[in-house]
Amino acid sequence: MFIRRNTLLQTAAAGLLLGASAFAVQAQDTVKIGLIVPMTGGQASTGKQIDNAVKLYMQQHGDTVAGKKIEVILKDDAAVPDNTKRLAQELIVNDKVNIIAGFGVTPAAFAAAPLATQAKVPEVVMAAGTSVITEKSPYIVRTSFTLGQSSTIIGDWAVKNGIKKVATLTSDYAPGHDALKFFKDHFTAGGGQIVEEVKVPLANPDFAPFLQRMKDAKPDAMFVFVPAGQGGNFMKQYAERGLDKSGIKVIGPGDVMDDDLLNGMGDSALGAVTAHIYSAAHPSQVNKDFVAAYKKAYNQRPGFMAVGGYDGIHLIYAALQKTGGKADGDSLIAAMKGMAWESPRGPISIDPETRDIVQNVYIRKVEKVDGELYNVEFETFKDVKDPGKTKK
Ligand code: PHB
Repeated sequence: MFIRRNTLLQTAAAGLLLGASAFAVQAQDTVKIGLIVPMTGGQASTGKQIDNAVKLYMQQHGDTVAGKKIEVILKDDAAVPDNTKRLAQELIVNDKVNIIAGFGVTPAAFAAAPLATQAKVPEVVMAAGTSVITEKSPYIVRTSFTLGQSSTIIGDWAVKNGIKKVATLTSDYAPGHDALKFFKDHFTAGGGQIVEEVKVPLANPDFAPFLQRMKDAKPDAMFVFVPAGQGGNFMKQYAERGLDKSGIKVIGPGDVMDDDLLNGMGDSALGAVTAHIYSAAHPSQVNKDFVAAYKKAYNQRPGFMAVGGYDGIHLIYAALQKTGGKADGDSLIAAMKGMAWESPRGPISIDPETRDIVQNVYIRKVEKVDGELYNVEFETFKDVKDPGKTKK
């Protein structure tokens, strides 16, 4: 009897131990990614595009890399930086994530930066576009873009194409300030003149009063930066105020002509020339496959935010492959530096010095193709680095 009970106890103890070690193995064999994006509020289209693209990539490539199971924990910060900070902290401390990713707006990317540094957790910025972001932590890597990359190029293009007077309308926060500065530097250096300059609030902007000022200034073109998600509303008010009829064309970085809204803008968008890093009409096989798969899965066209998410999750997969599954922050960041691959947008790489993205910038014009509006690329600037880096 005594012997039997003892055996039972031993068996139970062994079972417990087995259970505990199985749990430890499981925890070690899982790489957790905390994906913090705006799924609600004014920037929700950014979060939805990124979430869609990450899911699509994982369906296409499986959820195991170098023997590790990939687990994505999605959190909605509504683009409010206090939320971002709290969520990043919870993900790092409670969920013990190996990587934080997403960041739909610059203030969100800023808010998480000190936590990335402190915890040595990589912060993969898939959306936000202010130059200085990557300098806020040695653990930040970016797969989106900077406003400097596109705004310098459209500034030069405007000068070369006989545009002499420009009125500017930019969103009044960090990426808008970058867009305006880089455009102005290049446009005025080439002899262009800024005849009106307005800044609109980020949250729920009403463009109408500003548009009247634009019209009265009688510029050759208006330079516009509004973040992803606002272009549809902007172009609606642009048409309602008759700016299209008065021949004031829209130029700018391509955010205002985001592919996910472009088709709904109507013919007032025709002829808009923007410089940007992605068009759904980019004529490569990789992009054709990406657009087809995205449309099949979600019944809509991917925009540039989707591509930032798709490339961000690819970068994480590729880095894990390179480290053989080692998922500490230092190993992952070292693996990400210098990584190069073909994205749906074209060839891209991570600058090993700055951890920022190097990519082609295309000049595109809105045209009708098979009855739909597209940004049709007609000139390519290759391997453009962020012009805003203070450290080289
Ligand atoms: C940003 O907040 O950095 C941002 C957001 C949306 C854009 C561009 C930049 O389209």
